[in-house]
Amino acid sequence: MPQSYEYDVLIIGSGAAGLTVALNLPEHLSVAVISKGEISSGATLWAQGGIAAVLDSDDSLEDHIQDTLAAGAGLCHEDAVRFTVEHGRESIEWLVDSGVAFTRDENAQLHLTREGGHSHRRIIHAADATGHAVSSTLTGQAAARKNVDLLDSRVAVDLITNRKLALPGNRCVGAYVLNLKDSHVELFRARFVVLATGGASKAYRYTSNPDGASGDGIAMAWRAGCRAVNMEFNQFHPTCLYHPHAKSFLITEALRGEGGHLLLPDGSRFMDRFDSRAELAPRDIVARAIDHEMKRLGADHLYLDISHKPAAFIKEHFPTIYEKCLEFGIDMTSQPIPVVPAAHYTCGGIKTDSRARSDINQLYVVGEAAFTGLHGANRMASNSLLECLVYGQAAARDITARSADVPSPPPAPDWDESQVRDSDEDVVISHNWDELRHFMWDYVGIVRTTKRLQRAKHRIDLLDREIGEFYSNYRVSSDLLELRNLVTVADLIICSALQRRESRGLHYTLDFPGLLHEARDTVLVPTSFRTQSP
Ligand code: FAD
Ligand code: SIN
Repeated sequence: MPQSYEYDVLIIGSGAAGLTVALNLPEHLSVAVISKGEISSGATLWAQGGIAAVLDSDDSLEDHIQDTLAAGAGLCHEDAVRFTVEHGRESIEWLVDSGVAFTRDENAQLHLTREGGHSHRRIIHAADATGHAVSSTLTGQAAARKNVDLLDSRVAVDLITNRKLALPGNRCVGAYVLNLKDSHVELFRARFVVLATGGASKAYRYTSNPDGASGDGIAMAWRAGCRAVNMEFNQFHPTCLYHPHAKSFLITEALRGEGGHLLLPDGSRFMDRFDSRAELAPRDIVARAIDHEMKRLGADHLYLDISHKPAAFIKEHFPTIYEKCLEFGIDMTSQPIPVVPAAHYTCGGIKTDSRARSDINQLYVVGEAAFTGLHGANRMASNSLLECLVYGQAAARDITARSADVPSPPPAPDWDESQVRDSDEDVVISHNWDELRHFMWDYVGIVRTTKRLQRAKHRIDLLDREIGEFYSNYRVSSDLLELRNLVTVADLIICSALQRRESRGLHYTLDFPGLLHEARDTVLVPTSFRTQSP
């Protein structure tokens, strides 16, 4: 029998953003945090470089703001940048108080490293495994909270709104959730729903992201009627380990921050031909330069080299990367590391305000799934975890302030499985997954053209029809749900990219290589909601 639950707050996603919301809510509110894998699944666990915040007396809030605006290529919302940067110290102090063991220097001060686009050392980190330190601490804290239920192996299928229930008002009241342990779809009703489902980099064949980054929250919110903004800006991280057996392993930008050089196959440096900041230029510039050189030389990969630094320094600062490279027979203390760019971060997302509210009442979106305006056309390194913390705390404050006034959710029907049967053609799902991720890489990647985007649009329309039919006729599975969401998000990416008739930040098209005078967001509104004022 499928279960049904009622909570004050349902949080979908247990990464840095979701757990920050949960831990900043008062203990009188009942909270469910659901995760489609283990509670530690998600990009947060894999974060390496760190979290950007102004803690050094030589640094300033204004410099962090200006660096973020410059990396964002004219498209950041300055109010969001100021809001985030100004709350940076408070967020880091909260993490330190929560018990995250950040790396400290010889004076017991937080050690600050450096990454691309930052004019100062301002990245707080736990060696090269910051995400692990943050995730394990926050998960431990949440597990100890009596008012918080951590529920793993549950995939949210779709949001439930008043509109779906044919009730008046524009309110989110829960979600249908597939329990992977018994394959039943459960009903979660809640007074507030928070989407903290991370990004959509699995839309691409090569990615730094773990499984699960299929843009589920973005797709669910879009289907429910929320606006999606700037989805064309997919960030490609310049340096992922290149090895046939290394799946999606990132080589942190902090390695370049600590003096690493990018090299061509002949051992020469090249980044100064592309930008005066060389290896520490913002990510869009470095990834494009690598892509350019790889194509020019017909190379499968380039190299990242830090072997000129003392071996002890390398092992102390980058213990995780050192061990991982050794597993593949690469000793980074004496050899360069083979690297390629890979899809890394979704800069666009579901439109939210400074309280993380979306277009639907009582629905909040936080973390990588959200569009706050912070990142503009290119996210600066280590601003993502900061955004998860700052907006996670903002959402919790807002929910707390409103909680006395928001009534219980209305009744909702159980999931109806009477019209569907078990699939006998799962091969369609795996084939379509592969096809989508291939053409997204080939046609909607680092360098785009209108023709390539149109080809991708044609294919995504076919996939959309096929998957829609599959979804209507067969019982849902985790793979089907992820594919359905990826098709939606890939469509949003392609449509946004087709609308942008310029090259800005991460969106580079050979057909419009110049920059338009006016910087504008690409705002998509779901068709059936176009008459509503959001
Ligand atoms: P995530 O941490 O991705 O968590 C998403 C959660 O949602 C998971 O619990 C997942 O199970 C759950 N979920 C998703 N869909 C569903 C569904 N349908 N139903 C139920 N649950 C669902 N940023 C930095 O600032 N600094 C760094 O050093 C850094 N390094 C990075 C290194 C790597 C390898 C990667 C991949 C990213 C890195 N980033 C870094 C980016 C940053 O880690 C992410 O943007 C950030 O962690 C996103 O956090 P989040 O809470 O929004 O989502
Ligand atoms: C990295 O460590 O290079 C990733 C940092 C980020 O994505 O912000």
